[in-house]
Amino acid sequence: MRGKSVLLVIGGGIAAYKALELIRRLAERGVKTRAILTSAGAQFVTPLSVAALTGNRVFSDLFSLTDESEMGHIELSRAADLVVVAPATADLMGKLAAGLANDLASTALIATDKPILMAPAMNVRMWQSPPVRRNLETLKSDGVLFVGPGDGEMACGEFGPGRMAEPLEIIAAIEAALTNHGGPLNGLKALVTAGPTQEPLDPIRFLANRSSGKQGYAIAGALAAAGADVALVSGPVEIAPPPHVNLIKVGTARQMLRACEAQLPADIAVMSAAVADWRPESPASGKIKKDDGRAVPEIRLVENPDILATLAKSSNRPRLLIGFAAETDHVRAHASAKRARKGADWILANDVSADGEGRSVMGGDRNQIHLITVETEESWPEMSKADAARRLVQHIVRHFQETQT
Ligand code: CTP
Repeated sequence: MRGKSVLLVIGGGIAAYKALELIRRLAERGVKTRAILTSAGAQFVTPLSVAALTGNRVFSDLFSLTDESEMGHIELSRAADLVVVAPATADLMGKLAAGLANDLASTALIATDKPILMAPAMNVRMWQSPPVRRNLETLKSDGVLFVGPGDGEMACGEFGPGRMAEPLEIIAAIEAALTNHGGPLNGLKALVTAGPTQEPLDPIRFLANRSSGKQGYAIAGALAAAGADVALVSGPVEIAPPPHVNLIKVGTARQMLRACEAQLPADIAVMSAAVADWRPESPASGKIKKDDGRAVPEIRLVENPDILATLAKSSNRPRLLIGFAAETDHVRAHASAKRARKGADWILANDVSADGEGRSVMGGDRNQIHLITVETEESWPEMSKADAARRLVQHIVRHFQETQT
């Protein structure tokens, strides 16, 4: 840790006093700290004590000309190796989850290109409330790291989870974040495909499918949060890429294949794209018109390359190759046969039949997955796509830990 630097955001909560001890412990380990004190935080600890302990001036005002001329708020957010928020209040978590930036702390959190570690502290009911749970999910799927909160008696007299982690626990989490750059897949290259492909009929029409890209984007985010270097090859979707991934946008299956091949060699490949199986044989160069009393046009289709099967046969085959199987019946049996046929190591099977109201997992936020490998089969309960992504990444981490030992 020696020689590293941390930007510490101190939010407004009784646990702010522990932030002072955290600064001392960091200094003992040779870590430099700069601090942002929110106006609520300044109700609990004084700027003077924070400045004395950090040996640096304390930043608190977004629109301070002196601060901006000394070090702009964007630079401040990026100069450190890690941003730590302690205590992370419901307010700071909510602002970051929603993308709000109305003071220096929230602006720095959005502007940083460094990992963020939050140590939440709040009343137990607040911690368990639906909005805070939602924000926690969002932040985790954005790659934000968390330490605590712990269980215990709280300053407000209630008992339960919500107490900020102790300074030494936060130090351990900081050390892990700094040494791993956030995770156990550090040093590994991952390739993820996501979304549909669009196969043109003419310049304005195409064949495609309902894939939203949400599951693949969540996987790319979870791999990046675990420290992998991630290339996300994506068909056209309407969602924003997760932080710290290299997004490569493509249109057709053939473009997707070329983009994937250009990313090899890779240690991990997760093929979650819903690649169109067929494309119109010869897309028209101009708009196909319905005039001239001509008959309804016939569209001849030809088969697209299978990206998963092509990578499986490549001389540069990814070390761990994972496919998806979108099935509507005999889900596990079909998926297992698909794994073997395409030469994948693992396959994640999901049932994409519509429910009674016509909703499918395609486009939705939840997924129910069966993980099928050469020897094992495991059914996961229904969960959010973000949770399914994290669970997959845990399996990937375990796989690499086992194959390295
Ligand atoms: N896949 C691919 N290239 C294709 C078609 C599919 O890489 N041209 C990949 C998908 O990304 C997924 C897996 O193959 O990882 C299985 O996709 P799925 O649509 O379930 O299978 P299909 O090959 O289309 O088989 P079928 O339509 O017969 O179920």
